Amino acid sequence: MTITSREGLSSKCHIAAFETRTNPANRATVAAYPSVLTIATLLHLETRYMLDTRSKLSHLSVAFHWVIGLGMIAMIAFGLLLDSIPKEGRGFWVGLHKEFGVLLLALATARLVWRLRNGFPLAAAVYKAWERSLAGVTHWLLLVATLLMPVSGLVMSIGGGRPTNVFGLFTIPALAEKNKLLNGIGHEVHEILGYVLILAIGLHVAGALKHHIMDGDGTLRRMVGARIAPPTEA
Ligand code: HEM
Ligand code: HEM
Repeated sequence: MTITSREGLSSKCHIAAFETRTNPANRATVAAYPSVLTIATLLHLETRYMLDTRSKLSHLSVAFHWVIGLGMIAMIAFGLLLDSIPKEGRGFWVGLHKEFGVLLLALATARLVWRLRNGFPLAAAVYKAWERSLAGVTHWLLLVATLLMPVSGLVMSIGGGRPTNVFGLFTIPALAEKNKLLNGIGHEVHEILGYVLILAIGLHVAGALKHHIMDGDGTLRRMVGARIAPPTEA
């Protein structure tokens, strides 16, 4: 039997389980039915809700993209505004910036694992070779930067001797004494990468709008959860 897709595998499992259950000659294997059904159900759920296809992105991919993407934009603005807060009340806002940053780090790590499992979505339309390369590089840069921004923030705090309390749940400790080198590296990376990220996000959003407005393809619609017609050529 040739299985071409996970949906195919899932329904073949159902049929096989049904045939096994209803054939009296196969009584011995009837006991295996619940586990076959469980595997089929899990495969079905993964296909339906988790794996991307060319015509539709999974709910998980869409949720990760918008929660982390909009979260990163908000965090960049928050970080840049920190400078203009007077010294007396600043500690509270820096603390808030840090804990939301750690929350985003957890989400971004889960998303990276998910991307490595699932791969990047295939192009929603027929793109030129340079568009494919530029989109690929930008997506990797955005993905890695969503991890490096909070990690560099943590390095700055740890090196600065300032622990990070996360919503009163746990505390990420810091060095007992300030380490200028570690603190400086964290700060530089955090600051420079912040500006690189602003440029990369600008490019990324411009690309998404170009596909939507000028090319009229389904790239942006697919990222808001819509099912689109897959491109006819590769
Ligand atoms: C999740 C993503 C994050 C983004 C996008 C982000 C972004 C930024 C930006 C753009 C700045 C202003 C940089 C400057 O002009 O110097 C900043 C400042 C800062 N960030 Fe973050 N941040 C993130 C996470 C974190 C985390 C997890 C920590 C620490 C645990 C942290 C600690 C700080 C501190 C202490 C400052 C103030 C630096 C100073 O005194 O100039 N950030 N952040
Ligand atoms: C609010 C403005 C944004 C819009 C309109 C937007 C739109 C899109 C679209 C249409 C795609 C699909 C591209 C394709 O199929 O080739 C995409 C993918 C992607 N976007 Fe955005 N995006 C935005 C913000 C962000 C931000 C702020 C980040 C990260 C900091 C980000 C990271 C990514 C990544 C990593 C992908 C690759 C697919 C994935 O892993 O989810 N996006 N975006």
